[in-house]
Amino acid sequence: MADKQRSESPVVVVANRLPVDQVVAADGSVSWTRSPGGLVTALEPFVAGRGGAWVGWSGKAGEAPEPFESGGMHLVPVGLSDDDVDLYYEGFSNASLWPLYHDVVEKPEYHRTWWNTYVQVNRRFAEKAAEVAAEDAIVWVHDYQLQLVPAMLRQLRPDLTIGFFLHIPFPPYELFTQLPWRNAIVEGLLGADLIGFQMPAGAANFVQLARRLHDLPAKGSTISYDGRTVTAKAFPISIDVADFESLARRPEVEARAAEIRQELGNPEKVILGVDRLDYTKGIAVRLEVFLELLEDELVEAPSTVFVQVATPSRERVEHYVTMRETIEQQVGHINGVFGSTSGPAVHYFNQSMPREELAALYRAADVMLVTPYRDGMNLVAKEYVAARSDNGGTLVLSEFAGAAAELKQAYLVNPHDKDGVKKQLMRALRADPAEAAKAMKAMRRYLARHDLEHWAGSFFAALQAEAQ
Ligand code: ADP
Ligand code: G6P
Repeated sequence: MADKQRSESPVVVVANRLPVDQVVAADGSVSWTRSPGGLVTALEPFVAGRGGAWVGWSGKAGEAPEPFESGGMHLVPVGLSDDDVDLYYEGFSNASLWPLYHDVVEKPEYHRTWWNTYVQVNRRFAEKAAEVAAEDAIVWVHDYQLQLVPAMLRQLRPDLTIGFFLHIPFPPYELFTQLPWRNAIVEGLLGADLIGFQMPAGAANFVQLARRLHDLPAKGSTISYDGRTVTAKAFPISIDVADFESLARRPEVEARAAEIRQELGNPEKVILGVDRLDYTKGIAVRLEVFLELLEDELVEAPSTVFVQVATPSRERVEHYVTMRETIEQQVGHINGVFGSTSGPAVHYFNQSMPREELAALYRAADVMLVTPYRDGMNLVAKEYVAARSDNGGTLVLSEFAGAAAELKQAYLVNPHDKDGVKKQLMRALRADPAEAAKAMKAMRRYLARHDLEHWAGSFFAALQAEAQ
């Protein structure tokens, strides 16, 4: 272990991905650009401002590049081989845990080789974190890919204060116990001093598991384990509200929003969906509902259009491949029947878009349609609200997204109930502008107080309190 490195970092973030993306130029030279994600924005001040480190994967298979400095942070890459990507990332993380933790909306697969690699890769992350953390450092581990890291790290470095935050839902006892390695996962998480969840229900599910599966004494949100107390609590994540609002307010973004409506043929109503192309997001439901509304002649195309932006994601995992085919068939069918020479009914983009373009789309949309079957939070819903400083637009939101507990003035829907979604979508399309503005204003007021800084600050403060 390099002592020089070890003394460097009083704060360490450990996440599957580094906060930078690797860019390889035509001449083969490698550079790094800051990832656009909200997590980076949220954690950067805590890491960079304190001479901290970030341990993570570059996103490309192969040997780990040497540690380097970026944006005031010490970045420590962890290498994943092709097999690791296959078995740890695509396999156990995204074909076992992801569907299991999202209410089994697709069937999880459990394979021992996937699990074995998950254990090995988690150990690699824990070892790297143990190397760079200073004496008594605070380490914050993130998400379902790294649930064994807290216990592994505690074993290597008992002096550390360890926090863990799960960005996705935590399932109830009845689902979680399907997992053949359920005990190891619970023990892995119990290595932390503080475990953060998006929702109180996730925290309660975890406390119940510790009680029922491991027979541990628990009181409220604290569990007694191995001579320590472990706290399991909800810290709902948010976005940088002020930053997103000012982006959406820029004259060029507003001009682009007007241009988008023009390019769409000046429709009366624009319905918008923005997601990673993931089966938990309920994109197919939206298309089914839109098709039925067209068939029922409750809406007409192209005076009403549906714009769906779906970023490609986890493209080698089977469920993702089949869902993409289904959605593309649905879009083809709708446009075949209801499109005309003046334009399609559905505008579908299987692309990632710059933040400015997303903000312009949010400003251009009359109805934002967010219908996941299950979602830890759903930041898209929060971005839409933050973007609407004009108090325009309406939000249709699944009651199974974490955001529904906070954005209470949205038109809430159960995505399994198609008639219910149709009804709420029609209400949103026909909303009285004054009523809609009132609802949007209330949601914006709530978000202004519950932004990303509030989230990271309250988790960090609670973790520091554990260190006292
Ligand atoms: P998840 O974390 O499951 O992908 P969230 O809604 O919480 O879902 O976060 C998605 C993030 O990805 C948001 O910040 C959103 O702006 C961004 N995003 C979604 N779709 C696109 C896209 N097509 N292009 C660029 N960014 C996108
Ligand atoms: C969700 C997960 C993150 C993950 C992101 C993108 O938000 O909670 O941990 O990084 O999806 O998925 P990917 O597999 O591309 O990292």
